[in-house]
Amino acid sequence: MKKIFIVANWKSNKTLEEVKSWFDAIKQFPIPERKEIIVCAPFIFLSEIRAIIKNNNLSVKLGVQNISSFDQGEYTGEICAKQVSDFATYAIIGHSERRKYFHETDNDVIVKLKQLAENNITPILCVSDMKQMDYYLSKDTTVLDKAGDIIFVYEPPSAISEGGQFHAESPKIANQNAGQISQKIGRKVTTLYGGSVNSGNAGSFSTLDNIDGCLIGQASLDVQEFCKIIQNT
Ligand code: PGA
Repeated sequence: MKKIFIVANWKSNKTLEEVKSWFDAIKQFPIPERKEIIVCAPFIFLSEIRAIIKNNNLSVKLGVQNISSFDQGEYTGEICAKQVSDFATYAIIGHSERRKYFHETDNDVIVKLKQLAENNITPILCVSDMKQMDYYLSKDTTVLDKAGDIIFVYEPPSAISEGGQFHAESPKIANQNAGQISQKIGRKVTTLYGGSVNSGNAGSFSTLDNIDGCLIGQASLDVQEFCKIIQNT
């Protein structure tokens, strides 16, 4: 049976108390060995969550939702990969909300990939469409060289939930596009689907040939719903 990656992207949500009660609930939930559960939390909670995971011996990995495109230095307000590497194993990069609200470009994503590689953090690289893949592959060999260490996510911006409204891509199209990512790389690479995943539809994506799990925003905030997603994938 293939390994399944279930990635929670909490975005700019949760207070410290809410984080603690989310983890109080997940502690009670048995996580199957073949499922890699990754929580991509806001930076301010990394220290607390690292302690919770360690003290409770939880099978949950910690990730972040972004990193600076600069190394450490005079960049007010930024958090760089080197700082994150003490806490997180994974980092989401290239999310379409970073592009939409913070004007990140394809080139920024390439720079961040290099920062992550230098600091041994596994990228969870969001791909909105195949044009982005073509750009990465044409501009830099990092993507190709490191493809085995990257978790790709096919996530069309139109499928991302908004205001609690879910409108997922069809599983067939998601599978085709996930397959194209591997085709472009030239071998099978780990590829997830993201966009309006919930407990009702998660299994219809994770069981497809080209899809190895899901990136989940809205539905990951409610721990009971998140546990059902783990069960149903
Ligand atoms: P969603 O978000 O599950 O709320 O659609 C996914 C994401 O943006 O990563």
